[in-house]
Amino acid sequence: MTDSQTPHAPLDLREHLRRLEERGLLTRIDTPVNKDTQLHPLVRWQFTGGLPESARRAFLFTNVFGSDGRKFDTPVVVGALAASPEIYSVGMGVKVDEIGDVWNRGIDHPIPPVLVENPPCQEVIIKGEDLRKPGGGLASFPIPVSTPGFDSAPYFTATLCVTKDPETGVRNMGTYRAGLKATDRLCVRMATRLTGAGGYVHWLKYKELGQPMPIAIVVGAAPVIQYTGPQKLAIDQDEMAVAGGLAGAALRTCRALTVDLEIPADAEIVVEGFIDTELVEPEGPFGESHGYIALEEFNMSMRVTAITHRRDPILVSIVSQVTPSESSVIKKVAYEPLYLTHLRKNLNVKGLTGVVMHEPLSNLRPIIFLQFSRNAPKTEVWRGLQGASTLQAQCGKIVIAVTDDVDPHNADAVFWSMAYRSNPIEDILIVPYRSRSHGPKSDGAANSTLLIDATAKSPMPPLALPARKYMEEAREIWEKIGLPPLVPQSPWHGIHLGDWGDRWERFAEAAARGEWERNGENSFQRRRPDVMPETPVRRVEKD
Ligand SMILES: Cc1cc2nc3c(=O)[nH]c(=O)nc-3n(C[C@H](O)[C@H](O)[C@H](O)COP(=O)(O)O)c2cc1C
Repeated sequence: MTDSQTPHAPLDLREHLRRLEERGLLTRIDTPVNKDTQLHPLVRWQFTGGLPESARRAFLFTNVFGSDGRKFDTPVVVGALAASPEIYSVGMGVKVDEIGDVWNRGIDHPIPPVLVENPPCQEVIIKGEDLRKPGGGLASFPIPVSTPGFDSAPYFTATLCVTKDPETGVRNMGTYRAGLKATDRLCVRMATRLTGAGGYVHWLKYKELGQPMPIAIVVGAAPVIQYTGPQKLAIDQDEMAVAGGLAGAALRTCRALTVDLEIPADAEIVVEGFIDTELVEPEGPFGESHGYIALEEFNMSMRVTAITHRRDPILVSIVSQVTPSESSVIKKVAYEPLYLTHLRKNLNVKGLTGVVMHEPLSNLRPIIFLQFSRNAPKTEVWRGLQGASTLQAQCGKIVIAVTDDVDPHNADAVFWSMAYRSNPIEDILIVPYRSRSHGPKSDGAANSTLLIDATAKSPMPPLALPARKYMEEAREIWEKIGLPPLVPQSPWHGIHLGDWGDRWERFAEAAARGEWERNGENSFQRRRPDVMPETPVRRVEKD
């Protein structure tokens, strides 16, 4: 990792895109693409088309038009923030396996931003009648429809919604969706559940004061700033300072023009305005990351007072909806290390070796897997289970502990572990009183928590696959013959799990040398009349 005084991360989106392109992680699409029907579905194939994670790219669309035939000069980039952990790591300016440490450092050592004048994000200003004229204001940007066939409008998805606590003045920046309603009006959705959106807490305070809430929706800030949006930081922790900590340098802010807020100075586009605290407006339907379409509900109506942007701006959009998606990658790479640090450092859980949040379809938060070393005490496994289920109200509805020979990225392996390593009556606990989390609205009944200890409770016989050296040798032959390329799936070779004996090791070695008849001679000598079939040998013999 680079030292903490030198910025290692790109400090604006353009530098980030340049770095992505240099590494072959950005694909330019110059073919005309319809932002209302084609753009998001095209990027979606990356997540649904059977490609490995490493093949995902940021897509820069340079020739965008709308269903009404309108052509846009502004390019749209999707996948540039977090189509894959590798792309995210470019945004952080570190290696993938350093992301967790950088997050811990950013939170522990924030660097406050510096305020600048004449910022790039205000090179062009759209105000007054220009916001309201047909095709003007928000309609002049190529904002895509995310889930054509279901969504009700184009939406900003890669947002940083900046608001300020009217009492303390502390800023919050959250990633919340914002759907277009008119050239100068948006509807913003901030989660109202307990530990939902920080911006909602501010909205309640402005409502109490009888004032509209000032807001700035920032699009296309430096990735380190954007990455703080989906992160669940304490509400009084300034995301701009944490982003500085992530970047290793103070970031630049400026004053917004029509609202009393400070915003990232180098962002591509900023939409300023006020959110009504008296009237709420129907918003949606919109495809959500929990995997269902969020149906129409009343949300926050925002009147736009100005749109400012850099010259030749680039519009960033996130592909969300069913996971895996950019929305889950952006959370996964940051949440997992935070959980591991919490359980290991704060709770000092012994024997914990890994935390994996389940990504496909379920979107990380509801299901968490914990990996433990083979001899971890049962009491520590249970402390880990309880710690993971309680750190955040919205995460860990189901927590499953496995021994670390099991790879939780393979859900089949987890089921296998549950099938043979847990006894439901002893190893499962259902805990009442969990608050409602992200998901399709239910009847409001209180939720609960399921904890499962599927670790190996005692030594087990080896995993029944050829030993690693034989599998590797066979792979060399496979490749020499030119058979189709292999993508090894865990588990792909046998390993010892604690229960084995010297004699069996000798038998296996002899069999591999072709000397199985010697094994037969040995067993012939050990025949006996006093036991029934299926009697384990070691019950009656010494090894
Ligand atoms: C692509 C994306 C879209 C999101 N949309 C919303 C949203 O519309 N409303 C919301 O409350 N949270 C949304 N979230 C989750 C929040 O960003 C997340 O809970 C974050 O912690 C909020 O920040 P806050 O704690 O400062 O409010 C979204 C996250 C991502 C990655």
